[in-house]
Amino acid sequence: MDSTPGRTGLWLVGARGSVGTTTALGALAVAAGVAPATGLVTELPEFPGDGLPRWDDLVIGGHDVVPTPLPKKAEALAEAGVVPRTLVTALATELAGLDGRIRQVDEDVFHGPQAPVAERIAVDLGEFAERHGCARVVVINVSSTESPFRPGPEHRDPESLERALRGPRPVLPRSSLYAYAALRAGCPFVDFTPGAGVRLPALARLAERAGLPWAGSDGKTGETLLRSALAPMFTARALHVRSWAGVNLLGGGDGATLADQAAASSKVASKERSLDGALGYRVDAPLHIDHVPALGEWKTAWDHVRFDGFLGTAMTLQVTWQGCDSALAAPLVLDLARLVARAHEAGERGPLRALAFFFKDPVDCAEHGLAAQYDALLAWARRLRDPAC
Ligand SMILES: NC(=O)c1ccc[n+]([C@@H]2O[C@H](COP(=O)([O-])OP(=O)(O)OC[C@H]3O[C@@H](n4cnc5c(N)ncnc54)[C@H](O)[C@@H]3O)[C@@H](O)[C@H]2O)c1
Repeated sequence: MDSTPGRTGLWLVGARGSVGTTTALGALAVAAGVAPATGLVTELPEFPGDGLPRWDDLVIGGHDVVPTPLPKKAEALAEAGVVPRTLVTALATELAGLDGRIRQVDEDVFHGPQAPVAERIAVDLGEFAERHGCARVVVINVSSTESPFRPGPEHRDPESLERALRGPRPVLPRSSLYAYAALRAGCPFVDFTPGAGVRLPALARLAERAGLPWAGSDGKTGETLLRSALAPMFTARALHVRSWAGVNLLGGGDGATLADQAAASSKVASKERSLDGALGYRVDAPLHIDHVPALGEWKTAWDHVRFDGFLGTAMTLQVTWQGCDSALAAPLVLDLARLVARAHEAGERGPLRALAFFFKDPVDCAEHGLAAQYDALLAWARRLRDPAC
């Protein structure tokens, strides 16, 4: 038992996936001082460390449905060039130790009654917090993208939900089932996927009652990040965007998941909302997502923007983004863990709108421009440090 008091737990749902593994390896490497802080927003000088959990106070655990040990997944990521092999070798013992804190969940349990599953997940969280002396545990969902979910009457309030959960059939999508269990265990919840998470009225109310902060959804790491930086430029220069077409070629596990039309439609919806929000008006924005296994962990996004200038002169911007998704996502997961832990400690509750900067589809936030979101984040972080600000 590791009983260092006041540690911060980070519980990853989907811990053995590409993002989960890169996050875990990254946290170990930064804590050991063997990796630079590149990509970590909370390591910028604008975020003086005071109040944020220290890297060596962060303890990671998680759930997954696959048995692949973390060191093996990390080796596969090194083979693919996502993470340095030297780090995987140097931190092999730590990775194996972390793997021992991942609980495997049987895929079948998600097809039956959900109350016992939620109970099991909440117990896992409680045991983890106790064993590692965690003052709090932030649960972050980085599991496979799920299909869009349409809520019914049973999702309206906590009482109806609790009643429905006692029935024999699944009531919640998986992201929301984990969110429900996290709230029951007193843990803040972050959805890094486009899943429903806490965004069902019954769960949002449960979070409010429990006094817990939450955030989401769908990490903004690539094409949408670029769009949220570029779209305000067109608006500020009074240039009229006529169409903004996008083609996404994805490799990796998420690419395979998004080969499924239903799962892809939740991604497409969150990208569309983000573009309209950043431009301030609706634009013709056809978006295409293809799975190209040969790309491995890399992703190519090609954006083609047709816009009008003075006197209606037509012009075009084309931009190609070639990113390694997991390397872009993992530092954001770590930033979110630190910021949400701090918010929880400061007594913040409900949706954390100031974290919109990190998400494609930010909860309760109409601002989609990257610079404005960053300003809001900095102002909020300053208030957390000094409530008089
Ligand atoms: N990589 C990025 O830049 C990025 C950006 C935004 C959002 N995301 C989201 O992050 C998520 C993870 O992406 P990835 O590339 O790591 O995908 P991945 O397929 O490599 O990993 C997903 C992991 O979730 C696990 N999983 C599936 N169902 C589960 C369940 N019910 N309980 C626990 N674990 C479960 C899988 O076994 C797998 O290990 C996706 O939903 C993706 O949409 C990623």
